[in-house]
Parts: sequence; structure tokens; C-alpha cells
Amino acid sequence: MKISPPVLCAVSLFLGSASAIPADPNDQPQKRASAYFSPPYYPTPKGGWVPEWRASYAKAQALVSQMTLAERVNLTTGTGLFMGRCVGNTGSVPRFGIPSLCLEDSPLGVAHADNITAFPAGITVGATWDKDLMYIRGVALGAEARGKGVNVQLGPSIGPIGRNPWAGRNWESFGADPYLQGIGGYQTVKGMQSNGVIATAKHLIGNEQEQHRLDSRLQPAISSDIDDRTLHELYLWPFAEAVRAGVGSVMIAYNELNDSSCSQNSKLINGILKDELGFQGFVMTDWLAQGDGAIPFIGNSYWAYDLSISILNGSVPLDRLNDMATRIVATWYQFGQDANYPPPNFSSNTRDRTGPLYPAALSLQSGVVNEYVNVQADHYKIVREIGRDAITMLKNDNNALPLSKNAKIRVFGSDAGSNPKGPNSCENRACNIGVLGMGWGSGSVDYPYLIAPIDAIKAIASDVIASLSDTFPRSQTATNDEIALVFLSADSGENQNTVEDNPGDRLSLATWHNGDALVQAAAKTYKNVVVIIHTVGPVTMDAWINLPSVKSVLIAHLPGQEAGNSLTDILFGAYSPSGHLPYTIPKSEAEISVFKPVGAGFNIGQIESPFSEGLYIDYRYYEKMGIEPRFPFGHGLSYTTFAFGNATIKRTAPLTEVPPPPPPKGPTPTYPTNIPPPSEVAWPTKGFNRVWRLIYPYVDNPQNIRVGRYPYPDGYSTVEKPLPLSGGAQGGNPSLWAELFQVSVQITNTGSVPGKVVAQLYLQFPPSIPYDTPRIQLRGFTKTLLSPGQTTTVTLSLTRKDLSVWDVVRQNWVIPGIGGAQGYTVWVGESSKDLRVKCDTVSLVC
Ligand code: NOJ
Repeated sequence: MKISPPVLCAVSLFLGSASAIPADPNDQPQKRASAYFSPPYYPTPKGGWVPEWRASYAKAQALVSQMTLAERVNLTTGTGLFMGRCVGNTGSVPRFGIPSLCLEDSPLGVAHADNITAFPAGITVGATWDKDLMYIRGVALGAEARGKGVNVQLGPSIGPIGRNPWAGRNWESFGADPYLQGIGGYQTVKGMQSNGVIATAKHLIGNEQEQHRLDSRLQPAISSDIDDRTLHELYLWPFAEAVRAGVGSVMIAYNELNDSSCSQNSKLINGILKDELGFQGFVMTDWLAQGDGAIPFIGNSYWAYDLSISILNGSVPLDRLNDMATRIVATWYQFGQDANYPPPNFSSNTRDRTGPLYPAALSLQSGVVNEYVNVQADHYKIVREIGRDAITMLKNDNNALPLSKNAKIRVFGSDAGSNPKGPNSCENRACNIGVLGMGWGSGSVDYPYLIAPIDAIKAIASDVIASLSDTFPRSQTATNDEIALVFLSADSGENQNTVEDNPGDRLSLATWHNGDALVQAAAKTYKNVVVIIHTVGPVTMDAWINLPSVKSVLIAHLPGQEAGNSLTDILFGAYSPSGHLPYTIPKSEAEISVFKPVGAGFNIGQIESPFSEGLYIDYRYYEKMGIEPRFPFGHGLSYTTFAFGNATIKRTAPLTEVPPPPPPKGPTPTYPTNIPPPSEVAWPTKGFNRVWRLIYPYVDNPQNIRVGRYPYPDGYSTVEKPLPLSGGAQGGNPSLWAELFQVSVQITNTGSVPGKVVAQLYLQFPPSIPYDTPRIQLRGFTKTLLSPGQTTTVTLSLTRKDLSVWDVVRQNWVIPGIGGAQGYTVWVGESSKDLRVKCDTVSLVC
């Protein structure tokens, strides 16, 4: 049974106490005086003011201005749970050719569909550190979504960022650093949308654990309490990148931000997303994230007729509805979905060719719901390449890898094999049997096939014996020339399923199925042990990492359908490993226990999750606390070696403390403000075939609705706020992306095989600045293939934003320490702990 309910709220509003329905007291913008709070921000900025969207908004305005109230409301409303082919379906406006939009998961492929590709997960593409592969994957994802008739793909995930290594859904995103996450999000959005699919950046914001993410009448959702600077420099950074890429929709997270539900948090949605980041698309809540009124199983909705009533009685301003409808239609035009965009040709509800058109309506209306359109093309090649280029070699003593094809290979662990019941036997991949290619939940898809490591290994090597059990065989003996490959895994997923007692979030960072014991046993018997781990995130390995026979360790992440082939490309040396860790691996859980999920188990009352560590997550935290990681962020070995040298730095533009003021906002569509006649939402009388349970915008006896006096939210205002200094274009003030420095480094392949090097740039702010700032922060990377002996020069740019801090008083990005004697130190190396060259931004000496 599918759990994610398609009550779609493809809308952008704070309905809360502005509506006719009593507001949930938990959802007031400022519940209590606390260090963290969300101030009100009104009115909602209207869409349409950036030049790149002007033409689409003009077309949308022309249409929306002709629409009845019912039509406008219908656009903003989901049809109901299981009331259409996709996981979410919006109301249509047939009179103007606007179809019901199909919204479908997931960030790694088209969910609940046949004949698609199961791509590597976000964390895997993050581990490639390859911007081109990030883009190419996005293009392929978009092509498949379009081919299946998905209008709005529910990805990429750029939150959670991975503050909490135990959190269930970190693997859907690109890694525990805002810069890496931002590039992953930017490239994916650009790629997906190049095919006309509307991408969805999710989940805004602070969705950093699974437990208690949902709001209920008994317990409000967990509140992620994040200060303004941390929000801007860490959690919002990737969303700014997605908006800069022109993302068409944003999904709001389930949790609260600073004690106000994200879905109705006017500061977050109106102030930050729409004004400061200049977001022009439409906002949707996560499924059922709207705390009030949404009871889809009994056919209720906070939108639909409730919204019609709220407009007629004056409790929701008409211009808010007009903006919602315009944003949706403009986005539809922006990506060319008005011309030759295919309707959905698959059903997320069944694999049968024919079935009910509205499964939840138990109606007789049935028809063809699956046309089995194959959209896979040759995308398996991209899957294999990403899986391969993500593989991160942590250790390789005595050059134990690569293996010879004639090696005597002994394979241990269920993660090397297949799930005997098939890779899709568990709904939403909510089990960990056989090789782990993705986590579980709405971030998963059905595999078309899944290549198990053991099959790929046997296809290459001749002397292979396998024990695909997680218990080491009792009387196993070994000769010195045998090599043991030990396969381990660690899984996690969405909170809707509990797998082996893990409620979405992991219970521990240890590998599953007694992985430590399996390696220890293998290491007692074999002289050469290679450990391969398919994992959602960091795992602890101190129980065995320093055993003399554990020669090599590969993190294979979550590779998708080509798992085995990606792995053997590396194991047998056809390619050098070139993945790098998109997170830090700790020596023990205890060292980082401050990040454990809060409120585990049964709890009453609001659970607060203060992000009091501020900017100090992942490697920033380890650095600050002086904790030596087991393997640092950015670490990854190759079969070759690289030398870095001859670095130069040049300033490419003058430095000023703050960016120039942003360009003024352009005009936005205007509409008449008089409340439409009630007859516009009366039930149609002629030729109307009402489908039971479908959520309609129509109202019984609308003529009886009177304009009343309703309390508007605290701080409500109709006076437009001045454009924030940090705003002005999609993503923020466009000057933030002006290049200020260029750093060049010569890199030579000093080994004997080809390999890809990742040059990572970490920025150290001047020591004397009055802002508490992590010692180093990633601010650039690039990946390059080099043949043996080859030298190349890579050049990395530093933008104004890279050099800035968010000043909470000035509410602007500020370059600190300008004019001081001490500059920034720019480090370039192969990991956050392997910094090879160093340049100074004042002396311009490297
Ligand atoms: C809930 C998940 O949090 C979200 O990521 C997903 O897109 C929706 N359900 C729809 O399945």
C-alpha cells in the first residue's frame, strides 16, 4: 500500500488563521517567546517580476484573468488521495487546455512506474564530485519523467543536508556540505528542466530527521530551530542555488521552522523564498503537511471548496488566489508544457493495463491506465558511470586493489547477492535484502533489474566462491593467495516504514546484519580482505579498519540498477576509483552524539531540535572540536597519485564589503480585486458527471456566503515590503555570483594508470573577523581525467557569495575584513584534511 497521500497542495499560501476554518493553535507564527522564532512577513510577494519569467507570466495573466473563481481554485487543488494516475494530481481547467498536472516522485527516477531507469541516489552522484555527471543525470531523469507524462518531478532533494548522520533521508540529497549540495541541486534542476519537466526542490527546510516530522492534533511536528545566519549559510544555500537554476517548484518540509510550521511559515515562504530568493514558480506542501483541514479520505480539503468559500467570505484575499493560479500557469508555460507535452501514460496505483481511473472512488470508471512506455533509452550507461565514479576508496594497503581476473576470490555477505524474491519485492524498497542500491520510501523507484555484485564478479573472474550469508562460515579455511571480498550495507529511509527496527532514521551507524563481526571473522581467516560497503551515509568501522588483513575498503554508496557492473569496473582496474566522501566518517558514534535524532520513541508535546551548533556540522564540527575523523570529508584514493603545484591567484574584480544594490523588481500581473460572483463556484448543472470523492472547487448554495470579519494573521499587511538588499534575481542579489578571485593549480598524474583527480577548494576566512566562522569551508571543486604523466592546470573561481558571511543585523551578505592586513587563505587539495596548496587573497602569493 502506498503511504504518501496525494493530497496535493500546489499552492503557495499561508492559509492558517486567514481562513474560515479555525487555525491549529500549534501553527501560530510565533507560539512563544524563544530564542528562535519566525516573525510574520506579509504580504506574499507576487510572482512574475524577474525578466526570465516575464513572457510566461504575461501568457499566464492573459489566461487567469479569464478564469472563473472555480477554475482558479481548481488549479491550486489536488484531486485527492488515489484520485488520478500519479502520486499527486492537480485540478484541470479544460476550457483553456490546462490539464491535470501529474506530480510524481522521486529524486532518482520515475517512481511507481514500469520501464524506467533506477538511477544512483543523490548521495552517490554527490560522491562523484563531477558537475557534468550531475547535469547528465538530471537530463536523463527529466527525459524519463517527460516520457512518462510527469509534469512535476518531486526532486531533487537538497534537504536534508545531512546534519544528522543517522537521519533517514540524507541519501536522497548530495552530501553534508551546502556548497556540494548546492551544485548537486543546481545541476540537477538545470538538467531535468532542460527536458521541460518542472523540477521540485525539496524539502524547505530543516527536515533533518525523520522521527516526529509529521504534525498531528496530538503532537505538533518537530521544530528545527535554526538561527538566521546558519539558515542562510548552511540550510538555505542549496535552495538558493536551485532557485538560481530557475527551479519551477519548491516543496515545503513537514517540520516546523522556529516554532512555526514550514508550510505556513510566512517568514520562510514569503520573506525568504519569494522575496529574498526571488522564487517565481509555485510552492507545494509536502503530502498532508498542512496541519489543518486536510482529511482526504473523507473527501475534504483545505483547498477546493474551502478555498472558494474563503474567497467569497473575504477570509483569504483574492489577490492571493490570483497569484497562486498565475504562478502555476506561468510555470507550465515556462517549461513549454503547453505544447506537445505528453499526458501520463502510467499509473502509480497498479501495473495492470486497465484499472479504475479514480481508485479511491471505488467507481466503475475504468480505462487504460498503463501503456508501458519504455523511457529507458541507454541511460543504464549513465547509471553505471555514476556508480563507478562515485566509488570511494578509503584505504588500499599494498595495492591490494585492483584485482586480477585470475585472482582466487572468496565473496562473503548478503549485500553481494540478490533478493531471492526480486529487487522490488518490498514496497518502496523497505527492506535490506541483497545488494543495496537505494534507500527506502518515496525517494525510491522500482528497479527494472538490479545487477548483484556476485553476478558481475563471476562474469569477469574465473575462480570465485561465494557465501552470501552474513554469518562467516564456521570451518572456513584459506590459503594466502585467496582474497576475501566482504560486502556490508547500511540502509535508511522515510519514516512511513520501519525496517529491522529502524524508523526511517538509523538506530546506529554500524553496518547492518552484524557487518563488523563478518569482517572480523574474515580478517582472522584471510590475509587479504577487501571490504565493500553499500551505504546511505557514514558507517562506523573502527572494529576492523586497522586489522592488518583488512587491506582495502570501498564505499560504493547507493548505485542504482547497475550496482555490480559499476563495482567490477573498479575492482578489476578498468577504471581508477575517483569518488570522494560527501560526508565525514567518524571513529565512533559517541564523538558526534550531539547530532542524534531528538525525541526518539514516544513523546508528548512539542519536540524542539535546536540546531545550536550553528554552522558547525560535519567536517566543520570535527575541526572545531578537535576530533580526528576516521576518514575526512572529501577523502578518496585512486590507483594513481596526483601532485599539486604551481598555484596562482588573481583578483578579477574589486572588492567591496557589500554587493551593489539589487536591480528593482519588475512589474507583476494585476487583476480586478472585487470578489467574483458566487455563481462562479456553483455546481455546474449541464453535462456534469460528478465523480464521487474527487475534490471539487464547487460549493452548495454559494449565494448564501457573506463577506465576514475574520482575524488575519499577526503582522498581516497589504503593503508590499521593499526588496531585500540580498534579493533582486532568482537565487538572490545577482552580484553575489560575480567572480572576485581565480585560483589556478597545476596537477600532474604521477602514477602509472589514468585517473580522475578532484581538486577541492577550501576557504579559510581571515582570522580577525568578528564573525565566528568554521576554519575551512568548501567553496569550489572540479574533476579532471589525467593520463599517466599528464599535467593540467585547473582554475577555480571564488564568487562574492563564497567570500561572504550573512550578517544578521544588516540582513545582507558581507565580505568581512576588507582592507585588513590578513586575507583569506585559499586551500586546494584532495580532501578537507589533505590541503596541498595555499594562497593568500591580500598578498596574492601562493
Ligand atoms: C512525502 C515525502 O516527504 C515527499 O518527499 C514526497 O515527495 C511525497 N511524500 C509524495 O510521495
